[in-house]
Amino acid sequence: MLQRLMFGLMYRIGFTPWEGHALPARLRRLAEAPAPPGGRRALDLGCGTGDTSIYLSRLGWDVTAVDFVEAALRKARAKARASGATVRWIRGDVTTLGTYGLTPGFDLIVDSGCLHGLPEEARSAYAREVTAVAGRDGSLIILGFAENPRRRGPRGIGAAEIAARLGAGWELVSSEVDADVSRDPGDPIYVHELRRQQPAHT
Ligand SMILES: C[S@@+](CC[C@H](N)C(=O)[O-])C[C@H]1O[C@@H](n2cnc3c(N)ncnc32)[C@H](O)[C@@H]1O
Repeated sequence: MLQRLMFGLMYRIGFTPWEGHALPARLRRLAEAPAPPGGRRALDLGCGTGDTSIYLSRLGWDVTAVDFVEAALRKARAKARASGATVRWIRGDVTTLGTYGLTPGFDLIVDSGCLHGLPEEARSAYAREVTAVAGRDGSLIILGFAENPRRRGPRGIGAAEIAARLGAGWELVSSEVDADVSRDPGDPIYVHELRRQQPAHT
């Protein structure tokens, strides 16, 4: 609730320093790989004004995007219209994904700066909901600062916490600083890539 109000205010006053950042190489490699027959589905968590969603849509992905700030979605819709991208925009909370009628089985889930700002109590719900909608062998790309409770801004999250929260059903493929995405070398953005491991009995 507090977070939603805070982000709402930031969009209203136009203080959105994350807008327009570069897309990480890890994401581009996955997104631009040849599509299998039948197409591919992507989910953009905390999509903001939609840059990642629009990029994926223009590559031919079937994209669903979720954000809880209407002002961000309004701008995202306008940008998508202008660039000819088709995205299913959902105003909603990433910790309650199960309530929006999403069809599970996403091949790619992208979180560019959402999880790292979630409060403690929301992080487990996030992990549960994301796991429920991920596809077999689906990939999850998470961008965020490392944990620093003294930072003014998002608290951040480290690779160990990401792996622990998501659990054994996910393999942590890599965690690395992406210099192209980072704006402050002293407080860089990490890109974490995970892959869904299906339980053996399914
Ligand atoms: C740092 S911004 C990043 C926006 C976008 N992904 C980008 O890279 O430009 C984080 C976004 O996550 C959204 N957000 C944060 N917590 C959320 C939640 N619990 N549910 C849905 N959206 C959330 C905010 O409204 C904001 O648009």
